[in-house]
Amino acid sequence: MSTDSNKLIDPFGRAVTYLRVSVTDRCDFRCVYCMSENMTFLPKKDLLTLEELELVCKTFISMGVSKIRLTGGEPLVRKGIMQLINNLGLEVGKSLEELTITTNGSQLSKMAQQLFDAGVRRLNISLDTLNPEKFSEITRWGKLNQVLHGLEEAKKVGLKIKINAVALKGVNDDELAEMLIWCGEQGFDMTIIEVMPMGDIGSERRLDQYLPLSLVRANLSRKFTLIDIPERSAGPARYVKIAETGGKLGFITPLTHNFCESCNRVRMTCTGELFMCLGQDDNADLRTILRENGNEALKAAVYEAITRKPKGHDFIIDRTSDNKSVARHMNVTGG
Ligand code: GTP
Ligand code: 5AD
Ligand code: SF4
Repeated sequence: MSTDSNKLIDPFGRAVTYLRVSVTDRCDFRCVYCMSENMTFLPKKDLLTLEELELVCKTFISMGVSKIRLTGGEPLVRKGIMQLINNLGLEVGKSLEELTITTNGSQLSKMAQQLFDAGVRRLNISLDTLNPEKFSEITRWGKLNQVLHGLEEAKKVGLKIKINAVALKGVNDDELAEMLIWCGEQGFDMTIIEVMPMGDIGSERRLDQYLPLSLVRANLSRKFTLIDIPERSAGPARYVKIAETGGKLGFITPLTHNFCESCNRVRMTCTGELFMCLGQDDNADLRTILRENGNEALKAAVYEAITRKPKGHDFIIDRTSDNKSVARHMNVTGG
């Protein structure tokens, strides 16, 4: 258990209580805004083992982290991942308030029940379209049906679901209203995300993909009554209630509105690099410290890293920049 004195407080007075762990950089999809088609993934020997991941997570919990999100790549394609989820799940309701996952949904038809049994209650699912052809274009390798079956199963076992849709100009902008209605019918919340300039995405161009959410919101306001929800979580989303569906809709706007002042999170990659900000390159190599110096040194390294947490990101998408604010892809840091 943490005490006030060992809490993680950054130089701007923000308490770090949320750890996002990318458990693998691999993915069974190749979303056009996330990856290029030919990706080179990390050699397996560079990855933290499942036992090491668990140890690092528990160290963070002892330092006041109360929420852990597993991401990727696709977290559920990592071999043996249920071992980590089951073991961390034992902490839920004790030292951990929430263990949750961001997934593309491809493995859910077979894994939803196990996740629920492990103590997971909520999932964020990346889904940018309900049109099967478009889905194949966006994900390159994904099958919409497989994800929809997974969603059905997740719903059936009692997992609460939030759909994450990246707004893509000329691709799904005409469909977001329909998706919102569908989410309402299914009992899912929805979050719409601005595309962020992370990593080289081959021939795709960020400026062609980028759709400011101010425009999306204006369009949706013509069809729906958007009621601002006053309380804001420490997360990046600003939420509204949709009067017509009763559902919640979040907007994540790193480009048009910066939410960094309330940031409560850090991110660890599957190789144990701790990133203090999604949009900056500075990091701490926790793997070497853990393997060479043990757990106490790991704690000291985490405290030191938190003193370097920057004020915010410097994302920019325009005609003049190379539109690659940070070189690593989203699958490395896990969104
Ligand atoms: P909740 O627990 O449901 O609030 O989820 P979340 O918003 O923390 O997590 P999720 O994985 O659903 O994130 C949604 C999107 O928000 C992802 O695409 C992330 O890349 C983006 N995101 C989350 N945190 C940050 C952040 O600190 N900075 C930026 N720029 N984007 C973020
Ligand atoms: N910009 C915005 N969102 C992205 N995601 C992946 N790459 C990007 C990007 N460049 C989203 C996925 C998923 C979440 C983890 O991050 O769609 O919802
Ligand atoms: Fe995979 Fe998610 Fe990246 Fe798509 S956005 S390629 S599902 S990691």
